[in-house]
Amino acid sequence: MKIVVIGGSGLIGGKVVNHLRARGHEAIAASPSSGVNTLTGEGLAEALKGAQVVVDVANSPSFEDKAVLEFFETSGRNLFAAEVQAGIAHHVALSVVGTDRLAQQSGYFRGKVAQEKLIRESGVPYTIVQSTQFFEFVSAIAHSGAEGDTVRLSPAYIQPIASDDVALAVTDYALGAPLNGVVEIAGPQRMRLAELVQRYLASTGDPRKAVEDAHARYFGAELHDDTLVPGANARVGVVDFDAWFSQQRAVPR
Ligand SMILES: NC(=O)c1ccc[n+]([C@@H]2O[C@H](COP(=O)([O-])OP(=O)(O)OC[C@H]3O[C@@H](n4cnc5c(N)ncnc54)[C@H](OP(=O)(O)O)[C@@H]3O)[C@@H](O)[C@H]2O)c1
Repeated sequence: MKIVVIGGSGLIGGKVVNHLRARGHEAIAASPSSGVNTLTGEGLAEALKGAQVVVDVANSPSFEDKAVLEFFETSGRNLFAAEVQAGIAHHVALSVVGTDRLAQQSGYFRGKVAQEKLIRESGVPYTIVQSTQFFEFVSAIAHSGAEGDTVRLSPAYIQPIASDDVALAVTDYALGAPLNGVVEIAGPQRMRLAELVQRYLASTGDPRKAVEDAHARYFGAELHDDTLVPGANARVGVVDFDAWFSQQRAVPR
């Protein structure tokens, strides 16, 4: 199949392109760096010509509330206009577990809700893959709660997943039939946010301490115990914290 990966130069996109090619498909990495821009529509029609599947793993370059909403709304409109024109048979998009629960208080998640709504209303058969937080995102979580020598975090649970497991799952769903619904994916271990960040800080030799604070917000949102974790039917990856961390140390950056 010809499969266009929007955001194909990104963390997940690059891995998905490699998996698809390894399985014998023609995978096109489409993003501004290769002349395809969903915000302006540049290069979209050309990239989608003759394609059967579109995988959307792009992300907004700015996380500012208005910019994120604008990114997902405008990109979604341009993308689906081009997909309908090209007769795309399956649209697969990566979203976040708990998006609906987080949207009331967080601008980023209002953007993701808008993205998911456009997908459902597009008329293109689709699969929305909602993932938990990537291990690769833990340093950003630590940074967001940093206050001097401590990192203040909600006592909520998190079930982080490695980007390798995310990319494998997205590849499998892209090669499967459209589900016209949402599937959830997560990592193999559930733990408290502070426990995860403490392990990360200790492993990287960072002397700061992660502490629980019932009022600490997560990118603007107040969390309940289960806000960030998936339901019972999630696809669960194999890479845990230790495996992920040792892999990071093995790969020179
Ligand atoms: N971080 C997490 O923990 C987490 C958890 C669950 C789900 N997700 C979702 O995972 C998705 C991918 O995240 P990621 O970390 O892999 O992203 P990333 O590494 O930041 O890559 C973003 C990609 O989006 C592309 N892009 C930016 N502007 C674009 C535009 N105007 N048109 C087309 N493509 C554009 C970039 O292309 P260039 O390189 O050419 O600029 C790049 O390929 C996001 O939708 C995010 O919501 C993330």
